Amino acid sequence: MDEPDTRHRVIAWGTGAVGTELLTAIIDHRRDLEIVGARVYSADKAGRDVGALVGRGPVGVTATTDVDEILALAADCVLYTPRNTDIDEVCALLASGKNVVTTAFLFHPNRTNADVRERLLQACRTGDTTVHGAGLNPGNLSGVLPLALSGMSRTIDKVTLQERADWTVYDSTSITFDNMAFGRPVDEISPTGTDFLAFNSAIFSEQVWLIADALHAGVDEVTATVEAVPAENDHQIFDRLLPAGTTAGQRWTWTGRRHGEALVEIETLWTVGGEYPRHWPKPRHGWTLTIEGDPSMQAHFFSLASFTRDADMAEHVRSANVATAMQVLNAVPSVIAAPAGFATMADLPLIRSHTGFGNR
Ligand SMILES: NC(=O)c1ccc[n+]([C@@H]2O[C@H](COP(=O)([O-])OP(=O)(O)OC[C@H]3O[C@@H](n4cnc5c(N)ncnc54)[C@H](OP(=O)(O)O)[C@@H]3O)[C@@H](O)[C@H]2O)c1
Repeated sequence: MDEPDTRHRVIAWGTGAVGTELLTAIIDHRRDLEIVGARVYSADKAGRDVGALVGRGPVGVTATTDVDEILALAADCVLYTPRNTDIDEVCALLASGKNVVTTAFLFHPNRTNADVRERLLQACRTGDTTVHGAGLNPGNLSGVLPLALSGMSRTIDKVTLQERADWTVYDSTSITFDNMAFGRPVDEISPTGTDFLAFNSAIFSEQVWLIADALHAGVDEVTATVEAVPAENDHQIFDRLLPAGTTAGQRWTWTGRRHGEALVEIETLWTVGGEYPRHWPKPRHGWTLTIEGDPSMQAHFFSLASFTRDADMAEHVRSANVATAMQVLNAVPSVIAAPAGFATMADLPLIRSHTGFGNR
């Protein structure tokens, strides 16, 4: 492979499920990107070579828990994939001259909390940098894909994205239990029930606003509702017990309305433990995007490790992390080239696979 003319220096902020896919993709495929740092949280990851951390050979970069060390690095872009977002951290990164791509938040900055928006924008101005949020959902399926399909629309009446996911197989129980609150009492599950649920609900609301704004829906409100369903039996989920009677199903709906009429909707049918509420709709696993209009269109998306070779469940589950990670990794050059400030999925050019078939 030829050496690229310019190499962008990147920092991985988070080396969890998504961060690992970012790092392995860079090490295996991206000669145009150079890993110059990695911010970890766990003490047992600190001090280790980043390549070794993700199951590859050494790359000569040591992972650190020291934020100041990361901020002092010269880098073009930070791949920001922590479990919980810290706005002060992101502002510090942007102000220090590092662009940021993230799977964690900021899917439609114009509709995010005004104080957060202003702080981030000021940091972008200070550092002459850009921040971009994307991923799978929120991300490509609820941002890029509806807009891409809308290119075939004369008029649109309603856009709906329905996600059906069985999180039983997702091995990051910190996310499913600690963040998403599976295994908690059902009355704790609400759009303001915990800090994370409020945060998560807000990012899906942003995503509804993004589609509504980009497609001239004139939406005047986006609301969130959730129905939490208790487990009938105990379930062991990796390292956690989900006791009977606690939350095993969450049906969320974020709805953008104009004068009371629902125009843009994201619905999730999430379960852990293998029970499925009898009264819920029964779509296929994955994501179903429906655009009602002229013409009406429907697309179903599902990712696997492969449609042809055998793969185990863990590998299939990982495929969604790969997709999430690649949507932001492939956006890095466009984000670096973008004007300072916010770059949404509606602003950036179509993000394509950088590596593709690999025959450059
Ligand atoms: N947009 C999408 O489609 C999409 C899809 C999937 C995930 N996500 C988001 O992407 C991010 C990463 O997801 P993931 O599946 O990679 O999660 P994960 O496997 O749980 O890894 C999360 C990372 O968070 C770090 N962490 C540990 N303690 C933390 C703390 N107190 N505060 C902040 N971070 C902490 C972990 O560091 P150590 O490993 O060093 O402990 C790890 O690197 C999350 O924000 C998730 O919500 C988005």
